[in-house]
Amino acid sequence: MGSEAAVIMEVERVSKRFGGVTALDDVSFGVREGQITALIGPNGAGKTTLLSIIAGALPPTAGEVRYRAKRLNGRSAEERVRLGIVRTFQQAHIFGGMTVLENVMVGCHLRGRTGLLEAALRHPRARREEEDVYLDAVRFVNYVGLGPRSGDAASTLPFGQQRLLAIARALACDPRVLLLDEPGAGLNRMEKNDLADLIGRIQEMGVTIILVEHDMELVMRLADWVVVLNHGARLAQGLPDEVRRNRAVVEAYLGAGDDDD
Ligand SMILES: Nc1ncnc2c1ncn2[C@@H]1O[C@H](COP(=O)(O)OP(=O)(O)OP(=O)(O)O)[C@@H](O)[C@H]1O
Ligand SMILES: [Mg+2]
Repeated sequence: MGSEAAVIMEVERVSKRFGGVTALDDVSFGVREGQITALIGPNGAGKTTLLSIIAGALPPTAGEVRYRAKRLNGRSAEERVRLGIVRTFQQAHIFGGMTVLENVMVGCHLRGRTGLLEAALRHPRARREEEDVYLDAVRFVNYVGLGPRSGDAASTLPFGQQRLLAIARALACDPRVLLLDEPGAGLNRMEKNDLADLIGRIQEMGVTIILVEHDMELVMRLADWVVVLNHGARLAQGLPDEVRRNRAVVEAYLGAGDDDD
């Protein structure tokens, strides 16, 4: 991905305070179309808070987020999903009692065109969309490699596969910008390898990705651009190799103790 790719999302001077806690302090950066932008930093740096602000789950205290030059402030999370801004959570948030396939089917009616009432009345058009939802779900379950587990209760999946399921569900929302919050957390080496392959394939489909991740190997392998947060402020940004050698970044990580979760 060349650095000439257009900037499609801009985080501009975003701050977030929770009472006396400053979770984000005047953070700015741009996200280029088709790239993987990694957002890294020690525990408590503000990464999840920033994803929540981009996704519309939290309002910023100051600053704004723009997507394709449109100001997103004030738009609900649902509206943003319709625009193609879709997130996964640090905890997988799956429905344990539902099957793998059902989890993906309920994941995203938001981008469909049929209203709930119409769907309930099962008009032919709604019926067709239901079939589309089913076929899409099958496609995405296969895409993340969970095809053989389609009919199993999601609660029976090992942890690593639950994360893949969460990604399948996000894909069913037809993302243009996918926000991934520590998709590699708790995975073993082999699972991380599969995850990296999957994220790479999602990028190849043309999806822009913002990746929050502690695993530096994963970040270095996948990222086109890295933004480093520390205590809510942008500490550095640059190409993965530049950031890895950045002295302030190295010190922030050494000072932070264990953040390999
Ligand atoms: N809802 C909230 N209310 C109060 N404080 C919050 C809230 N959410 C986050 N914080 C605080 O904001 C700061 C940033 O938290 P955040 O979860 O964004 O960090 P993070 O970089 O995602 O950390 P981690 O790597 O541990 O996931 C922390 O000090 C946290 O305690
Ligand atoms: Mg977090």
